[in-house]
Amino acid sequence: MPAKVVVIGSLNMDLVTRAPRLPRGGETLIGESFATVSGGKGANQAVAAARLGAQVSMVGCVGSDAYGEELRGALLAEQIDCQAVSTVDDSSGVALIVVDDNSQNAIVIVAGANGALTPEVIDRFGAVLRASDVIICQLEVPDATVGHALKRGRELGKTVILNPAPASRPLPADWYASIDYLIPNESEASALSGLPVDSLASAETAASRLIAMGAGKVIITLGAQGSLFANGKGFEHFPAPKVKAVDTTAAGDTFVGGFAAALAAGISEADAIRFGQVAAALSVTRAGAQPSIPTLSDVQAFKAP
Ligand code: RIB
Repeated sequence: MPAKVVVIGSLNMDLVTRAPRLPRGGETLIGESFATVSGGKGANQAVAAARLGAQVSMVGCVGSDAYGEELRGALLAEQIDCQAVSTVDDSSGVALIVVDDNSQNAIVIVAGANGALTPEVIDRFGAVLRASDVIICQLEVPDATVGHALKRGRELGKTVILNPAPASRPLPADWYASIDYLIPNESEASALSGLPVDSLASAETAASRLIAMGAGKVIITLGAQGSLFANGKGFEHFPAPKVKAVDTTAAGDTFVGGFAAALAAGISEADAIRFGQVAAALSVTRAGAQPSIPTLSDVQAFKAP
């Protein structure tokens, strides 16, 4: 039986333009292309975990519009259980994304239906949580829901992962005790810890602070520099495979989903991090959020250049 992962979070339709560079305030740029692509950090992590070997359930909300049907259909096409994806009387979440010629992006999200994912909805689908091995949350749904889901996960004895994205401020202090793995990027680690994170040494200091705040283990993703693992006893740096980046959208989501799938399958932490990193590296070589996420056989076939 494949390991079971439940993702509690957002589904967004990504409205993606490519432009030579990101626009400055007040500036109009001529774009090169436009596409609508299924995304949302929650849904992306669910797709990553499913393509990378886990049996996945999604808990979330979509709007009663055409995007809602498309977002649900994209998950069903990956054999993701959507019994806990509710359709609500609102617009689906959207993300306005610009990707530039250096593969960097800028994203504005509008929560829409994601705002209807309340703690009561989590409780309504308690059986889905109970049947899981690993629970993953992010921050594109209401804070009260995330806090509730983390605590339920801890009470049920599940492995609880929080990817605190997007984050621009500290997390509620009482969340930390429920988190087994906290997986921020550099800017999120800085927002949570109140410390600058711009080098491996500063990432170690921030990770130590986050563990002192109560997180079980911390993995700070460092983009092309790989990731830093901390468990309160020491640190390990995992360099990233080198690839030519086309679009970094959903690279973090691919890492989180891949790491969770590997961990749930009983793979060691270190190998689960390496596995997630190969999956994330492959994702940046392709455009878009969900379309860029590799399969298990893609990762197994990967050879470092
Ligand atoms: O992490 C990438 C995702 O962030 C995009 O798919 C977009 O929907 C935003 O939520």
